[in-house]
This record gives sequence, C-alpha cells and structure tokens, in this order.
Amino acid sequence: MLRLRLRHVVNASNPDTEKKLAAEAAAALLEEGMAVGLGTGSTVAHLLPAIAARGLIGIRCVATSVATESQARELGIPVEAFDSLERLDMAIDGADQVSRDRWLVKGGGGAHTREKIVAASAERFVVIADSSKAVDRIEPPIPLELHAFGLGSTLVRIGSEVGEVSTRPDTPPSPDGGVIADYRGAVGDPEALAAALAGVPGVVDHGVFPAAMVTDVLIGRGDSVDRA
Ligand code: 5RP
Repeated sequence: MLRLRLRHVVNASNPDTEKKLAAEAAAALLEEGMAVGLGTGSTVAHLLPAIAARGLIGIRCVATSVATESQARELGIPVEAFDSLERLDMAIDGADQVSRDRWLVKGGGGAHTREKIVAASAERFVVIADSSKAVDRIEPPIPLELHAFGLGSTLVRIGSEVGEVSTRPDTPPSPDGGVIADYRGAVGDPEALAAALAGVPGVVDHGVFPAAMVTDVLIGRGDSVDRA
C-alpha cells in the first residue's frame, strides 16, 4: 500500500516520466512510409527510441538539429537532408510553453527557426510536453534567432520598437549561423507580438508558433497523457 502510494507521488511530479509518456503517445501515431519531421530537446530525446522501437518500414525523417540527427542515426532511424522532401506527413516536437488556446513558445534549445520550417511543412504538427509546459497564456522570454550581420542595430531596433531583448549568454550560433537571443518585454496579444518581431529586419525568426499550426497537443500529466 505504502509502496503504491509512493509510486503515485513520484509519477505525479516527474517531468521526465511525463515527457516519455507524451513521446510514446506521439510515436504511436506514426505509420509506415510516412515522411516525418523530428524536433529538438529532451522530450524529443524520448521520442526517438519510441520511434525506433516501432520498426516502421519506409519512414523518411528530417531533423531540426544536429543533436536530433545524431541520436536518430544512432538508433537506426533514417534521416535525410530537408531538400529532398517538399512535404511532411507529420512533425513531432516539444515546446517551452503551450497555452490554453494552443499558442506555443519554442526555442529553448535555440532551434526554433528550423523547427518552425519543419512544423509548417507538415500535414500534422504534434506537440509533446510535460505538464509544466502548460500555461494559461504565453509569457516572456521569447527566443529569437537574429542575423549576425548588423546584430547591434537589430538589437537596438527590437528594443525601441518592440521591447527588452538580450543575446543569450554562452549559447553557440544556430546551425545556420544565427545569433540566439531572448525577447523579455511584454507579450500581450501573441499574434501582434509575432508580427512585430517578424517585422524587424535582422530577425531570422522568433519562437512564437501560432495555434493554427498545431494539430495535436499531447501533455504528459502524472501517469497519463492529456490530448487536445
Ligand atoms: C528547442 C525547443 C524545444 O522543443 C523546447 O525547448 C522544449 O524542450 P524540452 O523538450 O527539452 O523541454 O523548442 O528549440
């Protein structure tokens, strides 16, 4: 009895267990022959073994980061460059924040530009997360990728036209050479913020993902998965 109760307490508050459950639920959605976009992060690190375990024949994958690509290859998941596929059947990725109305903040790992390209190319975009990522409304910080060219000027322009921003310390450039930064000003209406950030020359992309892009949200909660 005591052991059962303890196990329940551990499961209820263990983000890693929740990530794994959400990841396994997403892997179960895949079918043989699908073209699949693989996201980045610790939740996706649980997804890749779950995909490998399914032994799906004929899947073709693209990866949003070098880390994901290496882990996938080690597990025997075929990964190809994202210039040989025009459309994906499904993309699966984690998130830093998932709001009640399904707006996302992504880019905690600085991979949001590639992640957004992959998500936008997919018929179905499945978000996987532990319950700590579920929020009422999205909040700062919002990750940014900025062109290295003219960086100082871009930072000043974001600061004066949108709100507080700083480059992320000790963070390597993106695989495409972009500088990773974080917007720390007010969010307000996410659609308006997304447009304001995207409108500043020098911003490669921001980590706000619109609800319209999201088809499935799988949130691990305790020892089950909430689906929305
Ligand atoms: C990387 C991302 C990740 O999906 C996001 O940071 C969530 O990461 P994790 O699964 O480790 O919590 O957007 O750029």
